Amino acid sequence: MLKNKNILLCVTGGIAVYKAAALTSKLTQHGANVRVVMSGSATKFVTPITFQALSRNEVYTDTFQENNPEVVAHIHLADWADAVVVAPATANIIGKLANGIADDMISTIMLAVTSDVFIAPAMNVHMYEHPAVKKNMNTLAGFGYHFLEPGEGYLACGYTGKGRLEEPEAIVDKLDRFYREKQEQLLKKQKVLITAGPTREAIDPVRFLTNHSSGKMGYALAAEAVAMGAEVTLVSGPVHLDPPAGVNLVRVESAQEMFDAVMREMDGQDVIIKTAAVADYRPKVTHRQKIKKQDGDMAIEMERTKDILMEVGKRKKHQVLIGFAAETEQVERYAKAKLEKKNADMIVANNVAEAGSGFGSDTNAVTIYERNGTVTEIPTMTKNEVAVRILQKAASLLKKD
Ligand code: CTP
Repeated sequence: MLKNKNILLCVTGGIAVYKAAALTSKLTQHGANVRVVMSGSATKFVTPITFQALSRNEVYTDTFQENNPEVVAHIHLADWADAVVVAPATANIIGKLANGIADDMISTIMLAVTSDVFIAPAMNVHMYEHPAVKKNMNTLAGFGYHFLEPGEGYLACGYTGKGRLEEPEAIVDKLDRFYREKQEQLLKKQKVLITAGPTREAIDPVRFLTNHSSGKMGYALAAEAVAMGAEVTLVSGPVHLDPPAGVNLVRVESAQEMFDAVMREMDGQDVIIKTAAVADYRPKVTHRQKIKKQDGDMAIEMERTKDILMEVGKRKKHQVLIGFAAETEQVERYAKAKLEKKNADMIVANNVAEAGSGFGSDTNAVTIYERNGTVTEIPTMTKNEVAVRILQKAASLLKKD
C-alpha cells in the first residue's frame, strides 16, 4: 500500500532519532518516496547525511533553505506529501503543533499540510504523562492526527513505561493497514458501471468483425472497485476471463447490445467507466445464411455504430464519466479532444503501439487527462495497479460533487 506514496518524515530531537533512520530505510524498501525534514536538535543525534543516503533525497533542516527558486520549500513539501509521519515526535513538537506555532521548518510545514498526519511520540514516561503533553496530544487527536504508540517498555532514560518510539517495522505495518482500510472504504456503497472487452459485429452466422481487446483492464477495474466497497455492474463483450467475484455481470456481443445494456443500467450509477473497445463500424447487412464464396473480390459495406460514451456524456446527470482512448499516435491530442467531445470527466489514454501497454498485456502505462486540466502520467505497472489509480481519481471526483 505504501508503493509510490509520497511520505514526508519529520524527525525531531531525541535519542530515538536512530530509529527514524531505520524507518526511512523500511519505507523506501516498501516503495515509498521519502523526504526527510529534521529539527535542529534531531541533527545533534544523527546527521542529515544518513537520512539523505537512506531516502536518496535532499534533507531539509532550515525554513530558509530554499534551494529551488521555483517553489517555496515548506509549502511545496506540504503539498507533495500523501502522508506525514512525525517520528520521533518530542513533547516540544507536540506542544508546538497543538498551539499552531510555526518557528522552524517542521512546525511551519505542518501548518500547511492537508494530508494524513501520523505522530509517533518518544519521551520519558513522566513527560508522557504530564497533563500538558496529554492535553496537547488530545488537541492533535481532535485535529484528526493519528498516533503511532507502542506499549510500555524500557526507555533510554532508564525508566520502564510508556514513551518508547514505536518500532520502525510496526510503524510501517500500521501505515500499511491504515491505507489498506482507507482504500477498502473508498467507493463504499457507490455504484460503478464498467464496460469491458471487444464487441463482435456479425457478418453472417459464422463470421464477425472484432478487435484485439482482451478485457483485462475492465476486469481489473471491476475487481478493484469491488475491493473498494463499490456495487459493480460489468457489461462485458466476449472475453476469456472469469468475472471477478461480487460483480453483476451483463454479457453482450455487439455494439448495439452494449449500447442497450449501458442505457438500461446507467441511471442510478455514480461512476461509469468505458474501457470496452467498441466497434465503430458494423456490416450494414448481417446475412441470415452463411455467405458462400464466389470468384473475385468481395466488399462488405459498413455503417457506423452508436457511440456509447458520447451518448452517456449527453444523458449523464451527476455521474463521473471515464472514457478510454487507445491510440497509436498523437495520444495527447486525441485524448484531450475526446474529453471535450464526449463530455467525459476523465480520459485514460494509452499508446497501444508501445510494449507493455494496451491489448492483451498484463501491464499498462497510461496518462490520465482530467476535465480540470490535470494530467497524470502512470508509468508501466500491472493493470490492477493502474485500476486502483483510476478508481482513486474517480473517488476524489465523486467527493467534489
Ligand atoms: N466508445 C464507445 N462507443 C463506440 C466507440 C467507442 O463508447 N461506438 C468509447 C470507448 O469505450 C472508449 C472511448 O469511446 O472509452 C474511445 O474509444 P476509441 O476507440 O479510442 O476512439 P473513438 O471514439 O472510436 O475515436 P477514433 O476512432 O477517432 O479513435
